[in-house]
Amino acid sequence: MKFYIETYGCQMNVSDSELITTILLNAGHEQAESIDDTDLLIFNTCSVRKHAEDRVLGRISNEKSRKNTKRSFLIAVVGCMAQRMGETLIEKGIGVDLVIGVDQYNSIPDLIENRSTSKAATAVDSDQIYHQLVPTHKSSKCGFVTIMRGCDNFCTYCIVPYVRGRERSRPVDEIVNEVRSLAQGGVGEITLLGQNVNSYNYQGVSFAGLLMILSQIPELIRLRFVTSHPKDLSDALIDVMASHTKICKHIHLPMQSGDDQILAAMNRKYTIKHYRGLVEKLRNAMPNIGITTDIIAGFPGETDAGFANTLKQIEEIRFDYAFCFKYSNREGTSAADLKNQVPEQIRLSRLQAMIDLQRDVTLEKFRAQIGKTVEIYAEDFSKKESHKLSGKTDDYKIAVATGDPQQIGSLIKVKVIDATAGTLICE
Ligand code: SAH
Ligand code: SF4
Ligand code: F3S
Repeated sequence: MKFYIETYGCQMNVSDSELITTILLNAGHEQAESIDDTDLLIFNTCSVRKHAEDRVLGRISNEKSRKNTKRSFLIAVVGCMAQRMGETLIEKGIGVDLVIGVDQYNSIPDLIENRSTSKAATAVDSDQIYHQLVPTHKSSKCGFVTIMRGCDNFCTYCIVPYVRGRERSRPVDEIVNEVRSLAQGGVGEITLLGQNVNSYNYQGVSFAGLLMILSQIPELIRLRFVTSHPKDLSDALIDVMASHTKICKHIHLPMQSGDDQILAAMNRKYTIKHYRGLVEKLRNAMPNIGITTDIIAGFPGETDAGFANTLKQIEEIRFDYAFCFKYSNREGTSAADLKNQVPEQIRLSRLQAMIDLQRDVTLEKFRAQIGKTVEIYAEDFSKKESHKLSGKTDDYKIAVATGDPQQIGSLIKVKVIDATAGTLICE
């Protein structure tokens, strides 16, 4: 069969789509060039906010009409939404033929084969780590490598621990082999993935330890990682980041709220004082570090004063970038049962206020780079201006630059001549 995967959600899903590609190719299936050419359309889905689920349901209903012209056309739903909703996705009668949960990707070929008898595989397997399977990497110059799966933190708003199961770390040697073979194949920039990479632990090797081992791989040019939970960010990690040139000076450190009461209600297990302390340590150790974050507006019980504390932190900390979200009630999480939900209108206006404030800060941060010479890893041609190269700075700012196609896959020094709140224009 020819298959095509459409991926939603976080980088973990991007990485899982690459894993599923390997599983299907190994079973003799073939990757389709486009949706028009496919027999099996796979939606790799996200459940983190209701909006993410609604979008996929909309996409499924759009694509379902293909069954009228191609009788063999199948739609499969995999990923977090498949895990959360299971067979009900089929029972809804919206056109879904197969449902496969996050720990059952190895059974996709069987399910395709035996679809007349069995249509769903969503059993939880808390040990599933997809041993020995090398994902089929999509991009030729940058790659994601999953180092752990699942999450044990149970932030009270978050569905991830319910759909992704318990936290488990991949063996060090499997990670090292994967990173080495990617780097040797020309994938110079690797991003390590986990819901909370700071709690990586495999037979006593910590995350800082893993980074040290990976930095020794000669062909590897740059190493990044997401996401860091502030409660587990160690001094050892800050030291390793500061002392290894291959490790990019960027950290994604979700703050979630600037208010201690809300942080406690979210079960984040740190205070704003602790968070500010980490920012200070990071900036002391690495003056040019880029710090990005996630923030939620309108968590249950958030008062005007509580939200003002969040704005105050955005103003004072000056993140390089912030992903701002409106709280979305996820059934099954403990915050969903809280009585003091914030009205939708207020959530929306708070979200807008956060976005507006952060946009100004981001623009200021990007414009501060004008006139400087920065180093970017040239990844590809720019999507908007195909004669230019695109890449990122060490501190995770997207840049486009004039340059030579032969420089793709290497570090280049460029001068920043202009900037928007999202891109450095360089030459
Ligand atoms: N493991 C990562 C993030 C996973 S989800 C971490 O701990 O940072 C990515 C982001 O989605 C979270 O950081 C949070 O800001 C946001 N998010 C999660 N659940 C949400 C919800 N119910 N409503 C709104 N935003 C949510
Ligand atoms: Fe969700 Fe919290 Fe786990 Fe991140 S650390 S995935 S926000 S429960
Ligand atoms: Fe990622 Fe969404 Fe699942 S954020 S882990 S794809 S719920």
